[in-house]
Parts: sequence; structure tokens; C-alpha cells
Amino acid sequence: MEVEELKVKKQIKKYDNEKKALISILQDIQEEYNYLPPEALKIVSKSLDIPLIDIFGVATFYRAFTLEPRGKHLITVCLGTACHVRGGPKILEEFERKLNIEAGETSKDGQFSLETVACLGCCAIGPVVVVDSDYYAQTTIRKVSSILKKHIKKD
Ligand code: FES
Repeated sequence: MEVEELKVKKQIKKYDNEKKALISILQDIQEEYNYLPPEALKIVSKSLDIPLIDIFGVATFYRAFTLEPRGKHLITVCLGTACHVRGGPKILEEFERKLNIEAGETSKDGQFSLETVACLGCCAIGPVVVVDSDYYAQTTIRKVSSILKKHIKKD
């Protein structure tokens, strides 16, 4: 998706070009493009008069932001200790096999990005998988297909 300067400027204007709104502006841009395109960050830098390096600093500090194009859906497999002992790595392998990618990558059709996390804070219901904002508790290898199908269907 190409970055439209006017569109980005409009998103910035929504916050009256306030420097303190940087995180909200970045969230809006990420929602629009599914990641933070460098061209958009340059526009933000100019408009808010914040050095580009500082914007990259914020963008890389928060896990919610990504500088790489992401798939339409983000799958996060928990590999924290509690989820690990209950089969987290096997579940991750199954997602990798089904999507033909490794953790940290995006499927060729741009549908799914796959990531891991160290703990989601809900260890009692592990192994946990999160797709976008949907939590899947006590996940098993057998549930992987239906999880993927459910999210393709939602589109
Ligand atoms: S270890 Fe997976 S939620 Fe805590």
C-alpha cells in the first residue's frame, strides 16, 4: 500500500500537530497500513518537528509497533514457561508448517504474521495463542487449522 502524504498529514492534523500525540498518531498510521512505513514516519517527523531518529526510537520501543509490513492477522504463540511445558513449541511448529513460514515471518498471501511472546499473563489457561485480539485458551495442535480458518472467514 502506498503512503499518501495528504492522508498522513490529515491523521496528524487530527491531533492538532501536537508532539505529545506522537504515539496516538503512530497507532493510527499502523492501523491504516498494518505497519509503520518509513515514508509515513518521515512525514510525521517533518510535521511535528521531531527528529526521525526519535520517532524510530519510539516505534522500536513499543512491541505493538512494527516497521516491517505485517500480514492482515497477527498470530502470537506464547512460549512462556507455563505454555512451553504444555506444548507451546509444538503449536508454534504447527502454525509454521501450515503457513509455510517461521516465527517472525509473514505468509506469502499476506494473511498472517507469526510471532512468539514470553508470557501473556494468563498462564492458567495455557497454552495460549492470540490472533489479533482473540485469545485461544488450552490450544492444541488440532485446533490450529480451525483457528486459521476462523480468521480467514472473518475477512
Ligand atoms: S506462559 Fe503463556 S501466558 Fe504465561
